Amino acid sequence: MSIGLIDSGIGGLTTLCGCVKAFPKKDYIYIADTFYAPYGSKERGFLKRRTAQLVERLSELGAECVILACNSCSSSTLDENFPLPVIRVLPPAADALQHTDGRVLLLATPVTINSPYVCSINSHRLTKLADCCLATFVENAAPDFSRIKPYLQELLLPFGDYSGIIPGCTHYVYLEEIIKEILPSIRIFDSRASVISALNALSVSTGEGAVKIVITGETKNDYNMLLTKLLEQNTR
Ligand code: DGL
Repeated sequence: MSIGLIDSGIGGLTTLCGCVKAFPKKDYIYIADTFYAPYGSKERGFLKRRTAQLVERLSELGAECVILACNSCSSSTLDENFPLPVIRVLPPAADALQHTDGRVLLLATPVTINSPYVCSINSHRLTKLADCCLATFVENAAPDFSRIKPYLQELLLPFGDYSGIIPGCTHYVYLEEIIKEILPSIRIFDSRASVISALNALSVSTGEGAVKIVITGETKNDYNMLLTKLLEQNTR
C-alpha cells in the first residue's frame, strides 16, 4: 500500500519531498497530470471531475490515502467525498495571520484565489493576488528557477513592507529562496507542516521507501532529478 499524491506537474514534488523527509519508510506514488496542466486557470467543475478520476486511479494503483498536493484541486473539491482518505494542501492563511502583526500576501492561481475557501477568509491584513502564469513559468524554468527572478521582482515590488507571504500554489515553493532574496525580512508560510501532521494521524502502512512517478502527458522535466535536488536541500 502506498501514499498517493496529485498535482498538475512538478509543484507537488515539494510536498512529496516534505513527506519523504518526515516518513522515509513509506511508499509513494505521484501523478503529475501534465496532460491537463496548468490547473490554475481551469473551471472548478473540471478540476472536481479530474481529481475524482485521479483519486480512483491511485486507488487502483494501491494507494491507501491521497494527498492533493495542489491548492487548485484542494480548494476546488472541499465539498467532495472520495473513496479514500484525502489530505488537502490549502493556503495556511490563519497560521500566517496569527504569526505576523503586519500585512500578509496570499499569492495563488486564479482558481484558488476565487475558490469559496479563499473567499471565506477575510482580514484587513490579508491581500489576495491571483497570478495566471507563474506556475507555468516554474514548470518551464525548472531546474533553473532563477530565470523567473525578474518576473517575481516586478510582481512582489508593491509588497516590500509586508510581514508575511503565502505561496498558495505548490509550484511556488520552488521560489522560496528567490522570494527571500527579493524580500529578505518577509516570513514565508507554506502548508507542508500541516500535511505531515495530517499524514501522521492517518497511520499509513510502512513500506520500503519506494517512490513511483506517473506522468500523464508530455514534459521536459526530469522528476527524479528534481526530487533528488529537493531532498538534498536543507529544508523540510
Ligand atoms: N501546483 C498547483 C497548485 O498548487 C497547480 C498549478 C497549476 O497547474 O496551475 O495550485
